[in-house]
Amino acid sequence: MEDLAWGTDAELTDEQFYNREDSIALIKSLLETTSKGSPPTLMIVGIRGVGKTVLLKKIKKEIDDKYLTCYVDLSATLGYQKGELTEMSIMEHFYESWMESSQSKGFTTVFKKVSKYFKTKNFELKEIMDVGGIPLPIPKSEDDYKKLSKFVFNLPQIIYEDHSGDIDGCIMIIDEFQALNDLGKRLDSFLWFFRSMIQNQKNVAYVFSGSLTARDSIIERIAGKDGAFGGRMLNLHIDPFSKETVKKYLDEKLPSLILEDSGFERFYKCTNGIPFYVNTFAKLLQKDTPLDGTKVKEEFRRTLSMIAVHLINQWSRLTLQDQNIIVTLIDKPLRRKEIADKLGITTGTLSTPLNKLQKLGLIESEDRIYCISEPILKAWLKKEYEEKGVFPFRSI
Ligand SMILES: Nc1ncnc2c1ncn2[C@@H]1O[C@H](COP(=O)(O)OP(=O)(O)OP(=O)(O)O)[C@@H](O)[C@H]1O
Ligand SMILES: [Mg+2]
Repeated sequence: MEDLAWGTDAELTDEQFYNREDSIALIKSLLETTSKGSPPTLMIVGIRGVGKTVLLKKIKKEIDDKYLTCYVDLSATLGYQKGELTEMSIMEHFYESWMESSQSKGFTTVFKKVSKYFKTKNFELKEIMDVGGIPLPIPKSEDDYKKLSKFVFNLPQIIYEDHSGDIDGCIMIIDEFQALNDLGKRLDSFLWFFRSMIQNQKNVAYVFSGSLTARDSIIERIAGKDGAFGGRMLNLHIDPFSKETVKKYLDEKLPSLILEDSGFERFYKCTNGIPFYVNTFAKLLQKDTPLDGTKVKEEFRRTLSMIAVHLINQWSRLTLQDQNIIVTLIDKPLRRKEIADKLGITTGTLSTPLNKLQKLGLIESEDRIYCISEPILKAWLKKEYEEKGVFPFRSI
């Protein structure tokens, strides 16, 4: 039966989910140490579309009955969406997530405790929230913010102590943590505060995840030797599927897709084994007819704008200057000076946009040489240029 997930699905059925047995076993066994009072802090990284989110959600589902688990997508934080991520909005998000997962476990005593806490600590309580009556605290001052943060970080430990007969510990998964970059100069102090709050917790584990390249500096600042969690955090990489895995995967899950040897080679080259692209492209390809390399290449061009849709969205939100910078890198990687010369501007002007594009994961630099980090974006831009004679600066 044809059952490939769409590239945008965040939760896969067990039938759709493929491979990753080793990573699942490893992460689960690390998390198991939480039940012995020595919770790990994990950092799960991998490139965009490799399958971090679906993996974490699968693991969450598998350990849900033994632990109080909660999943936080930092890019869904209200403050982030409004373009002003603050420590306060992160705390609110954490708080709501813990309260919601307590509620779904039927842990109700915590709600009474929380209400009492807020009364005694002099918080204002918002009107009872529509979602199941979770009281939402609003701090009045900076001082209250600190109190609130401490309270939120301690909350899972308090819940655990109330329910140690029901659960083995608490686990928080923090996805898309690269959104924390938005804190700018305040990032480091937030991370150190985070670390200091959780380092003595005996029954709460944290799993960070996000899409980054190894060269991203935020990883260093969190997990590096001198970073806030240095030495204490375990780094795990999620890799794209190997050729063999993709072959077995397609044979098993999508037998109606008939790839000749050259067709499969081309398919792997186009997708790089990244599950997001594997699924999207495989679903769009013609079925029940043998496809060779030439045909797959043709089909890739035909479907490229669908495969690249998330990148095209990102592209269309860039400024003309950002887009121009990317275009200079189409043919080959360049130094900052070379980019500046091509655009007829000073290197100083480039700092801000280069930073922004790196944070967006569209370009990366190694030894001060910049290149486009998304081959699919590059392929789409080239195709547009070939077909239309201009780059799609105002595509949408
Ligand atoms: N193990 C898997 N089995 C089958 N399909 C998968 C698997 N992992 C990922 N996919 C496919 O890839 C898509 C993208 O996965 P996911 O959203 O987890 O990637 P991600 O690494 O979290 O990406 P991002 O960095 O953009 O958040 C999924 O919707 C699914 O279609
Ligand atoms: Mg994800």
